[in-house]
Amino acid sequence: MSRRPTLLATDQPARHPCPTVKATGLAHLIFERPDLGSAEQFLSDFGLTVSHREKDELYLRGTSVAPYCYRIHRAKRARFVGFGLTVACRDDLLRLSRLPGASAIETASAPGGGERVRLVDPSGFVVEAICGQTVIPALPHRAPLPLNQGDQPRRINATQRPPVTPPEIIRLGHVVLEVADFQDTCAWYTGHFGFIPSDVQVLPEGSPAVAFMRLDLGDAPADHHTLAIAQGFMATYSHSAFEVIDADAVGMGQRVLRERGWKHAWGIGRHILGSQVFDYWQDPWGDKHEHYCDGDLFTASSPTGLHTVSPDAMAQWGQRMPRTFTRPRLNLASLWALLRNLARSPDLTLRKLITLARMFG
Ligand SMILES: [Fe+2]
Repeated sequence: MSRRPTLLATDQPARHPCPTVKATGLAHLIFERPDLGSAEQFLSDFGLTVSHREKDELYLRGTSVAPYCYRIHRAKRARFVGFGLTVACRDDLLRLSRLPGASAIETASAPGGGERVRLVDPSGFVVEAICGQTVIPALPHRAPLPLNQGDQPRRINATQRPPVTPPEIIRLGHVVLEVADFQDTCAWYTGHFGFIPSDVQVLPEGSPAVAFMRLDLGDAPADHHTLAIAQGFMATYSHSAFEVIDADAVGMGQRVLRERGWKHAWGIGRHILGSQVFDYWQDPWGDKHEHYCDGDLFTASSPTGLHTVSPDAMAQWGQRMPRTFTRPRLNLASLWALLRNLARSPDLTLRKLITLARMFG
C-alpha cells in the first residue's frame, strides 16, 4: 500500500471550491450509553434540559429553539456515534443521498421531525444531514451580567449575585474528533458539507495536527469552529462544547459541577484559536464536555490561519492544559487500533505519534 510523501506546510486542509452542500448548523450529538439515568444526572447538572424521553432514548435541549441537541440511545457499551448537521433544503438532502454509502431521504422520527440522510464519514462517524425540522419555543435564560468596566460603570447601588444553579446552556456549539485518517476525513467535510478551515495547527515538520473548521454561511457570521478534527491514532470523540451566556456562567458551572462531585478536565481559561472562555468536565464515561462563552465569529471571507501546535498554543491564560487532557485511554481495543492504523493510514507515522506524545503526553 502506498503512503503519501511527507506533508509539506502547504498540504493543509483547505476550503473546497464547490462542495456538495453547505451545512447550515450543528444540530445534535448522538451517544450510546448503558445508563440513561447517570447520563441525565450529569447533563442536567451541566445545564441541559430533558426535552423528550422514550424507554430507550433520551433527548436534551438548550434554551434555543432547537428541539434537541443531545440524543442518547441505551446500549450495552458507552460510545459516541456521531452528530447531526442541518442543511438548507430538500435538494441538498437529495444531493447528499447520492454519495457513496448514503441512505435515501428518510423521515426523521426524533423530536422536531423533518427529513434526514444518514452518512458515514471516512473515520466511521455517523453524520445525519437534516432539514425541515420544526423549532420549539425558546426557554428563558438569564441576561448577561451588567459589568462595571473601568470607566464605564453600569451598576450603582446594586450587587452582582448570579444564581447558584447549573448554567443555562443556550446551544450546542462544536464537536471535536480525533481521527487516524486526518486528510481524508477533513477533505470529506470540506468537500461534502462546505466546512472552511478557520485555523490549522501544524507539527514542527509542517504536517497538520488540528483543523478548526467553521460553517460557510456567506456574509453571516459563523462560530470559529463548529467541527474540529485532530490527528490521533484512532477515531474517537475528543469533546463537545456548549455555549453559556457569560464568563460568570462558566464560573458558576465549575462551582456547581464541583459541588456535585463531577470530575474536572481543564479550565477555566481563554483559548487562543476561537478565543472562548472555557471549562471542561467529564461525564460518567470520561467523555469531555465544555462550557464556553465569548467565542470568535467569522464570515466566509476570512482566510485560513496556520499555527504551530503545542500545549502553550491552547490558551491565552488560565490553568495550563493538564497532561491527562489529551492522554488516550489505552486498552486492548485501542492498542489494536493503534497497530492497525499505523500499518494502514497514510497520515499516521510513528514519528508523528512520538512528536505528539512528547508534546502532550
Ligand atoms: Fe472546544
